[in-house]
Amino acid sequence: MRKKENNHGIFSAGQKTLWRALRPSIWTLKSDPSHENPALSILRTLHDQPRWLEPYHLYDERGSQLFEQICELPEYYLTRTEDSILTEKAAEIIAAAPVECIVELGAGTSKKTMHLLREQVRLRKGGTFAPIDVSLRSLLASRDTVKRRFRQLTFHGLCSRYEEGISSVDTSLPTLFVFLGSTVGNFNRSEFTRFFLHLSRSMGPKDFLLLGTDRVKEVEILEKAYNDSQGVTADFILNVFVSINRLTKGNFDLKKMRYHSWYNPEWQQIEMYAISTATQEIHFPSYKTFFVWEKDDRILVEISRKFEPLRLQRQLQLFGLNPVGHFTDANEWFSLLLFRKSVS
Ligand code: AVJ
Repeated sequence: MRKKENNHGIFSAGQKTLWRALRPSIWTLKSDPSHENPALSILRTLHDQPRWLEPYHLYDERGSQLFEQICELPEYYLTRTEDSILTEKAAEIIAAAPVECIVELGAGTSKKTMHLLREQVRLRKGGTFAPIDVSLRSLLASRDTVKRRFRQLTFHGLCSRYEEGISSVDTSLPTLFVFLGSTVGNFNRSEFTRFFLHLSRSMGPKDFLLLGTDRVKEVEILEKAYNDSQGVTADFILNVFVSINRLTKGNFDLKKMRYHSWYNPEWQQIEMYAISTATQEIHFPSYKTFFVWEKDDRILVEISRKFEPLRLQRQLQLFGLNPVGHFTDANEWFSLLLFRKSVS
């Protein structure tokens, strides 16, 4: 393992000065010039046709709790399936990726990642775990678990968005980037391209990517996973308007909307909508703007793309990511794809 442990951990030389310690072992950007007023970005997409929202607004405090509940639902097979693959294949994955550092994107509390950390410690006796998440709460929970279970690992939390966290990592340090949960399915086409261009450019010649992806399958199974019998998914999707009212001082009324989702086979994605149940005016007095939300008009709150592993591997190859491993479950419902940055 790398003995050269300084208090800046895994930062590349140019990045060190941009970050400050937020808590012990947790870093954040000193100033965040890229951040813009979230209210404005929300209002812009709400004026589009069709109206839509960027999915990260879903994960406020309440939204994150509701998502944790979704992961426990009998219909929502994704979390359980991915966890079972990791339980079985973590040793093989870690053996295939000889790295000193594991960086996790959108880590949450990193519950599933513990399988990988366990094998990393078993095989290499140590190294660094660097989860990236905008939620300090999740990072603190993750830090406490990691410090308790894996004393041999250095914890280096990054409280930031993916892109900034990714850019901060020293490219000469052999690193496994981990992006689980099929969160990549949340990106629309342009976000997808932007994300992989940036990730690939930030990866060094000894780096790997482990990508968790939900697969195209029988429509009934897919649709049930996003329309559960307890209505937790509906609460999760409509909760975004509570947080949007808070950010924009808008007047969305949860009693005048309903949840609807379907699988769009052409785009291979679940689309989750809020539908207006009455013609209503939505006002944002602080921004001097409004719109008429017609009865039955939809706002696209979230998409969840489903993937075909072979096609995705061919596509990511064109971002300089070579497929080196494919791990799936007996039903072939979910895939963990391992890539290596191509040296060219
Ligand atoms: C966290 C994006 C993977 O798309 O399955 C679950 C989010 N939304 N139910 C998914 C979600 C509604 C989830 N991801």
